[in-house]
Order: sequence, then structure tokens, then C-alpha cells
Amino acid sequence: MSKGLEVVDLHVNVHGKKVLKGVTLNVGYGTIHAIMGPNGSGKSTLAYTIMGREGYEVERGDIRLDGESILDLPTEERALKGLFMALQDPPQIPGVRLTTLMIAALNKRQGSSDLTRVRDPKIVRRMYSLAEELGLSRDLLQREINVGFSGGEKKRSELLQALILEPRIIILDEPDSGLDVDGVRKVSEYLVNLKEQGRGVMLITHYARMFKYVKPDMVTVLIDGRVAVQGGPELADLVEERGYAYIRRRYVEGKDSTI
Ligand SMILES: Nc1ncnc2c1ncn2[C@@H]1O[C@H](COP(=O)(O)OP(=O)(O)OP(=O)(O)O)[C@@H](O)[C@H]1O
Ligand SMILES: [Mg+2]
Repeated sequence: MSKGLEVVDLHVNVHGKKVLKGVTLNVGYGTIHAIMGPNGSGKSTLAYTIMGREGYEVERGDIRLDGESILDLPTEERALKGLFMALQDPPQIPGVRLTTLMIAALNKRQGSSDLTRVRDPKIVRRMYSLAEELGLSRDLLQREINVGFSGGEKKRSELLQALILEPRIIILDEPDSGLDVDGVRKVSEYLVNLKEQGRGVMLITHYARMFKYVKPDMVTVLIDGRVAVQGGPELADLVEERGYAYIRRRYVEGKDSTI
């Protein structure tokens, strides 16, 4: 049985448009797999499909966690199995505080029907201390989710949720966008920690700037909904130096498979 997340020959339609046209990749535990690709290449679609978001229709292929297909499971059950996604553009959730959401998610995972009661005061302390390390104030934790948060605060709060929920596989959709230099370094440090704890990290980005601090174990470049090329960290350097037009010419049109 294969451990971790496996995406096998995935074909996905979104609102009648074919967006993914055969994507195969694995995210093993204790590894960081970077997904790169130009705008519109299907990176977010891949992440949403893995999470089972409504409207993302799998036409062919499979998504497996530890060897078992999760395609038939609703998003909530995928989350309970240990999948977490930090969104590229997290929505506002008026009326719900960040702390309330995290406590509800933790309680739900522990099988509790009371989603609001704090079962372990240590968790709240951990929430506050992690928030402080991430540069988020206590006051922000008590605010309505993402309402009036700056771009960087949204990104940091997504990471905070991931750290509190301790998922087995964490998917981050452009966690660096909107972050200042210190934020990029900080987020990178946490990603390395997550990897060292044995979690699988799928890191979506179109820039290699995070790779100064986080060395990916695997890099997959998506172009037009297909895997253009897969390789090690050197592939990220190639993307940074030569750009996606070059990758497309060499690997998609030239059918070259060596990096
Ligand atoms: N709900 C939708 N309706 C119609 N087309 C969609 C929808 N969602 C995605 N698409 C299309 O699918 C393609 C892939 O989009 P996706 O958001 O996955 O790209 P991406 O690689 O994440 O890009 P970016 O780097 O800009 O975030 C785009 O052409 C997009 O317009
Ligand atoms: Mg995207």
C-alpha cells in the first residue's frame, strides 16, 4: 500500500470546462512537493479537487490517501482523514471568530458533538503562542474571520489553522502571496517543521522565492492542466532562470524528458 496522497491520471471539469487533463503525482509523508506552473495552469483546481470542493467534477482518474480512494468522500470527511488546504484567497466569514472555528474543527475531529466547548485549555494557550510567533495579535484571533484582515494576516492565519489542526497532508495554495519578506521566511520555517514532523506538504507557488528557505523534495510543473515535467529542486531553479515559456518549449513541445 502506498503511503501519503496519490493523484492518479486526474481529469477534471469545472463548470463544463476541461481544466485538468491527466495529472499524476504523489505527496509522501515527511516530504515537500512543490507544484509550480503559470497562471491558469490548473494548480488551484488540483488542490480544490483533492479537497472535494463542489463543482469540481472528476471525469477520470483517482485520488487516494494511504492507498484508499477518497473520491466518494465529502470535503468534511476528507478533512477528518487529515487533509487540510490553506486557500490562495481565503474568504471572509462574518460572524465567526478564528478561535471559534479552530476549536470547532478540533472538537469535530475528536468526535465531539459540542463544537464550542474548549476541551483542553492547553490548546488555547498553544493557539495564542503560535499566533504570536506568526506575528498575529490576540485581538485578531477574536475578530471575525478574514474581515478586514490584511493580505499577509490572512495568509498567516491560514497557516495558524494548519498548525493547530495538525493535518497529515497539508496543501498550501500560494502561501507566499501577499507576505512580506519576513513572512515568507517565517512561513517557510514552519513548512520545514511540518515536513520534519512527518507530514506531507503540497506547496503550490509560481515563484521559486520560497525555495531559498524550503528545499522541495519534488517539483511538478503543470502547464495547460497537464504535468509538463517532474523533478527535484533543480527544476525550480530552472523555472526561475528560464521561465515557463522555456519549460513549455522544451518539455511540452520538444517532448524532452531530461532535466
Ligand atoms: N469556476 C470556474 N469556472 C470556469 N473556469 C474556471 C473555474 N475555475 C477555474 N477555471 C479555469 O481553469 C483554469 C485553471 O484555473 P486555476 O485557478 O486552477 O489556475 P492556477 O494554476 O491556480 O492559476 P493561478 O496561478 O493564477 O492561481 C483557468 O483557465 C480558469 O479560468
Ligand atoms: Mg491558483
